[in-house]
Amino acid sequence: MNQPIGVFDSGVGGLTVAREIIRQLPGESLVYFGDTARVPYGSKSKKTVCKYSRQIVNFLMTRNVKAVVIACNTASALAVEEIRDMVDVPVVDVVEPGARMAAASTKNKSIGILGTESTIKSGIYEQYLHRLDSGITVVSKACPLFVPLVEEGLLEDRVTEDIVARYLHEMKEYEIDALVLGCTHYPLLRGVIGREMGESVKLVNPAYETAKSLKELLREEELLASPEAPVTYEYYVSDGVERFISFADAVLPCHVDKTTVVDIEAY
Ligand code: DGL
Repeated sequence: MNQPIGVFDSGVGGLTVAREIIRQLPGESLVYFGDTARVPYGSKSKKTVCKYSRQIVNFLMTRNVKAVVIACNTASALAVEEIRDMVDVPVVDVVEPGARMAAASTKNKSIGILGTESTIKSGIYEQYLHRLDSGITVVSKACPLFVPLVEEGLLEDRVTEDIVARYLHEMKEYEIDALVLGCTHYPLLRGVIGREMGESVKLVNPAYETAKSLKELLREEELLASPEAPVTYEYYVSDGVERFISFADAVLPCHVDKTTVVDIEAY
C-alpha cells in the first residue's frame, strides 16, 4: 500500500525516530508533523497532551496516512489509548517497543528509565516492564534540562557533562545494566550518557525498536509499499520552519528542502 506513514512529535526530537524509520524502511513515504509551536509536551498534563495529539492525528489523517507513529515518548505515555480509539489505521508508539528492548537487554533485571517529567510521572515504562517480567527493578529519573541542551546543540559540552552527571548520580547507585533513553532527544546525548554510566550499562534507544515494530506490523497487515512506488518525505510544523530545517538537516540522512506551517489548532 503506497500511502505514507504519519509520524508526529512535540517538535524536532521525533526526527530521531523518523531517521530510524528511513533507515529500516527506505521504501516507505513519510509525513512528519512537529508541534514546534507548543513544544515541550514533557511538562504538560495528560489532558493537554491528549488534545494536542488528537489535533495532530486529525491533520495526519487528512494526508491519507496508512499508519501513525507516535514518535514522542510523552505523547506515547499519555495519549496512545486515545489515539488508538480514534483511528482505524495501526498506531505504533515508542514506549512499548523501548520497554521490550530493555527487558530483553537486562541480565541482572535492573533497568533505568530516563524521560520527561510527564513520562516518568505516568509510570508507563514500569507498567510495561512489569507486565513483561514482574521481577524487574525499575529506577526512573526525569531529566528536564536535557531537551533544551539538545535543542541548543550542546551535545558534547562541559555544561552537558555536568548536568548529565548530576541527573545520573542517583541512578549509578543502583546496579542497573540497561538504561532506556525514554525521550526523543536523549539518543543525541548518548555519547555523554554512555561515558557517565560506563560500558557495563547498555543504552536502549526506543527509536530503533519502534522502527522494527513498525516494519513487522506493516508486513503482517500487508501494508508495505510496493518496491517501485516513489518515496516522498513531507514535513509539517506548527511554527519555526527555519529552526526545524536546520535541526532536521543535522539529524536526517537526507536534506529537507521544504517544510510547511500548519494551523494545528484548526484540526
Ligand atoms: N518529544 C518529547 C518526548 O519524547 C520531548 C520534548 C518535549 O518535552 O516535548 O518526550
